[in-house]
Amino acid sequence: FTISNQTVSESCPSNIALIKYWGKYDNQIPANPSISYTLNHCKTNTTIEFLAEEPFSVQTFLAENEEVKFAEKIEKYFNTIEQYLPWILQGKYIIRTENTFPHSSGIASSASGFGAIAKCLMKLDEAFSGQISEEDSLRKASFLARLGSGSACRSLYNGLVVWGESQVRGSSDLFAAKYPDDEIHDIFKDFNDWVLLIHEGQKNVSSTVGHGLMNTNPYADRRFQEARENFGPMKEILASGDLQSFIKLVEHEALTLHAMMMMSDPAFILMKTGTLEVINKIWDFRRQTGLPLFFTLDAGANVHLLFPNDGSEENIKAFIETELLQHTQNNGVVKDVMKF
Ligand code: PMV
Repeated sequence: FTISNQTVSESCPSNIALIKYWGKYDNQIPANPSISYTLNHCKTNTTIEFLAEEPFSVQTFLAENEEVKFAEKIEKYFNTIEQYLPWILQGKYIIRTENTFPHSSGIASSASGFGAIAKCLMKLDEAFSGQISEEDSLRKASFLARLGSGSACRSLYNGLVVWGESQVRGSSDLFAAKYPDDEIHDIFKDFNDWVLLIHEGQKNVSSTVGHGLMNTNPYADRRFQEARENFGPMKEILASGDLQSFIKLVEHEALTLHAMMMMSDPAFILMKTGTLEVINKIWDFRRQTGLPLFFTLDAGANVHLLFPNDGSEENIKAFIETELLQHTQNNGVVKDVMKF
């Protein structure tokens, strides 16, 4: 390889898991497979300026000034991936990054952030080591993103994405794969995800600590097994378009993620009063109207409101705007539609 001054820019969206990844082995190998929706509009835009003549160092500029230790974290990350990108510890990196969604939203900026960095690194790799096919480049970017933040590997593909060995064709523990398009019913290809910003404070458990707590959680093995088992019904649901079973499974996965945190030692409760109020209102609404509004949660208090574009969406949006927005801090909601 021959290195030279380069400036590369890439953009990568975040994602929200439907079957959750929570618990891992060494080298970011997931304890169970997971499946996610890529959030089309919640992106990180990153530019890397690479100065080949300078000694190795990393400098970062964040639009929102959010993570002071970001440069240090990236430096550590570059060290761990040197075996896959042999040129990486030479030269100076000036990294500029910005998110198109609010930092406080709890939308995973580590997923979009590491996704964007991995894509930039693949552009540099192709400039220094030669071009590879687009498919191989994406797969390697997903592999590299996984080593930064596990869930980031799923952000490299649009639509429904699987990470972790499972019954799904092409799935792997090492990188994510697009869920086969011909096995997805149309209703799942055009979906809404509105994130209700319940609480803006920092979450009180990092995902690194959270994954670690699964090592001593007495329910962990059963949970890993359950997640694997959930892939059976999930595959059938996605193919048949069985929305009612989808709702049941997705909400169960979200509550299980939080139940695992409550059953860990030390215990964590990441839901707030507003989270529970919103969940109960969603359930009341579904009981009363039969309309397909449901939720998932990430490792935080905010609620992802999921609903299809099947003709019921105007009624659902009206309900969210009138009833649910009251439970948010400064009436915040981040709206996304996942279309593929
Ligand atoms: O990628 P990490 O290590 O930050 O893990 C995130 C895990 C969850 O977001 C809670 C669930 C998931 O599958 O995305």
